Amino acid sequence: MFDLPKDILFRLDELSETYGVNRNEVRAYSELSKNYRNQNFKEMNFSHAIAYALGRMPATYGVIKYVLERFKNTGKNFSNILDIGAGVGALKIALRDYEISYKALEKSEAMRKVFRKLSGDDSKIYSEDFLKFQIETRYQAVFASYFINEIKNKKSALKKIFDLSEKYVFILEPGTPNGFKNILEAKKIAMELNWYPLLPCATRGCQLSDEDWCHFSIRLPRTKHHAKLKNAALPYEDEKFCYVIFSKKETSFFKNNTIIKRPMKKSGHTIFDVCTGNGIRRIVRTDKSSRKLQWGDQL
Ligand SMILES: C[S@@+](CC[C@H](N)C(=O)[O-])C[C@H]1O[C@@H](n2cnc3c(N)ncnc32)[C@H](O)[C@@H]1O
Repeated sequence: MFDLPKDILFRLDELSETYGVNRNEVRAYSELSKNYRNQNFKEMNFSHAIAYALGRMPATYGVIKYVLERFKNTGKNFSNILDIGAGVGALKIALRDYEISYKALEKSEAMRKVFRKLSGDDSKIYSEDFLKFQIETRYQAVFASYFINEIKNKKSALKKIFDLSEKYVFILEPGTPNGFKNILEAKKIAMELNWYPLLPCATRGCQLSDEDWCHFSIRLPRTKHHAKLKNAALPYEDEKFCYVIFSKKETSFFKNNTIIKRPMKKSGHTIFDVCTGNGIRRIVRTDKSSRKLQWGDQL
């Protein structure tokens, strides 16, 4: 459900065969991973951009698909979107089944080049640095996935994101304590600007203790490129992520009962940790239908 479409996997093969001598890709990927670990976001070259597409995009695409599905289930919609720090175009590919007008902003020339090769898209991609980007048009939705993490002045980037949007703002981040800090910062700014969190919970602050962080996880089939780049044997990868979707209007989509940890299935009952809006609670359910509920669902 969250794996890349076949034609994109085919284009990744082509990219790898045409441009990436095997050892080159592995080296570029390990440089990229090291840079991410050290929070050192240098200008990417073409090998880095290919390594990103082969090694990271299957996971960021999966997370984006997951978040779009969750949004769709609210019954809400928008007709146009701006993708900030679009990378190699994971959101563009994920939006294929939606009738939504898409616009990208990506400062790296190498990433834009790979974006075009993957999506076959020759429409304009804004090439500016987002922090210097002049706002001329507003979009119904603004999307920033794995982007805030890379920005030094997070506060002003977040303010600008809200300023650009008319209805919805999507922020996706790595499922790490640092990624979650960025989500909390976004929530703080949203509150100051009178925006409301819609998903994964409608709580304006956060009730988790400082040592904990709210994140989710999806399991993806590991592509052959990913296995090679990471020298990994398992046929799947687990991608952990944090996210928040904000709405300009206050909404009563659900009463807060988001399952925030993997449910613990025991014989005859399931244990859920849920965020209720009035604190974190542990709830035990014995009915059969509860066994189908997953991490991230509403109880
Ligand atoms: C980790 S990648 C995420 C790509 C894509 N959103 C995804 O989820 O796969 C972050 C992207 O943001 C871009 N970026 C970082 N700072 C930027 C800025 N100030 N303005 C525009 N793009 C920026 C980087 O070049 C990179 O392509």
